[in-house]
Amino acid sequence: MNRLETEIAGVVFKNPVMPASGTFEINDYTQSFLDPKKLGALINKTVFLKHRAGNKPPRIAETACGVLNSVGIPSEGIDYFLEHTLPLLKSFGTPLVVSVGGNSLEEFRTIGKIVSDTGEADLIELDLSCPNMEDGSIWAAEDEKLHKVVETVKDVSAVPIITKLSPQVSDIGKTAKIAEDAGADAISLINTFPGIKIDVKKGSPILGNIIGGLSGPAILPLAVYAVWQVYESVDLPIIGMGGISSVESALEMVMAGASAVSVGMYNFVDPAIMGKLIDELETYITANKIESFAELVGMAHSPQLSI
Ligand SMILES: Cc1cc2nc3c(=O)[nH]c(=O)nc-3n(C[C@H](O)[C@H](O)[C@H](O)COP(=O)(O)O)c2cc1C
Repeated sequence: MNRLETEIAGVVFKNPVMPASGTFEINDYTQSFLDPKKLGALINKTVFLKHRAGNKPPRIAETACGVLNSVGIPSEGIDYFLEHTLPLLKSFGTPLVVSVGGNSLEEFRTIGKIVSDTGEADLIELDLSCPNMEDGSIWAAEDEKLHKVVETVKDVSAVPIITKLSPQVSDIGKTAKIAEDAGADAISLINTFPGIKIDVKKGSPILGNIIGGLSGPAILPLAVYAVWQVYESVDLPIIGMGGISSVESALEMVMAGASAVSVGMYNFVDPAIMGKLIDELETYITANKIESFAELVGMAHSPQLSI
């Protein structure tokens, strides 16, 4: 029996570890550290309908315990994705989450339908939470827009929908409930926090876009708290991310309520990290005589269940 197996909206992952969108490109370099077949699931960098250039450089600024990125989701567009990226991602035989973005409701509807109609995606993730889009819009921070976009894509999609939330809301449990009521099948969180880094020699912001999204170990407790709140508010599986860099941080996320975990920024620090997490979760489960990974999900909400 595979004790690390987990399930997200009816899709079985052989283990709970996957990349966070936009942070793990499959190429010869990354494959020299990690076989993508080992992962619980794969995900693409968010794809848009049309080509997008992304933000002007510099796009990355290091901070203590984290990174600010203002990549701004450059995209080759859906045609390129379908021809080149999708076949590569599918070639590993691992469940595939296709992350999609849009500039309007109509774009979300169109891309959601195109991706669903390919029959190749196991899940569709709606990126509603990038903090450095040129128009500053964060769909997940506006209740009505959030409800409408989830409902709209759900209506055209034959595959389950994951709604990716932003931490830039006053009550993330309430936001998750809006997504659930609109038909979301799972929630992923969190995207990055907006931030600015200033070059004090020049007296000006470092990033070309001025504002970037903060991620990495600096945001772990904020992300664990957000997952905790969502677990208390909805009855949907959660993919937790934000600051995962070790088996302890992954376990925190799981015990707060995540059925799967994604690694983002730390893939750039250690391209082998996701493989190590899978091995170390296995070791942890064996050492603590845990029958299945599911026992750990949300454990910290019920102190009587503690190990
Ligand atoms: C360089 C970079 C690019 C990202 N691109 C995307 C993206 O295309 N779509 C998306 O939904 N999130 C994107 N994110 C956000 C991550 O998926 C994740 O939600 C966030 O970084 C928190 O996880 P972490 O602390 O492990 O990095 C990106 C993050 C980084 C650092």
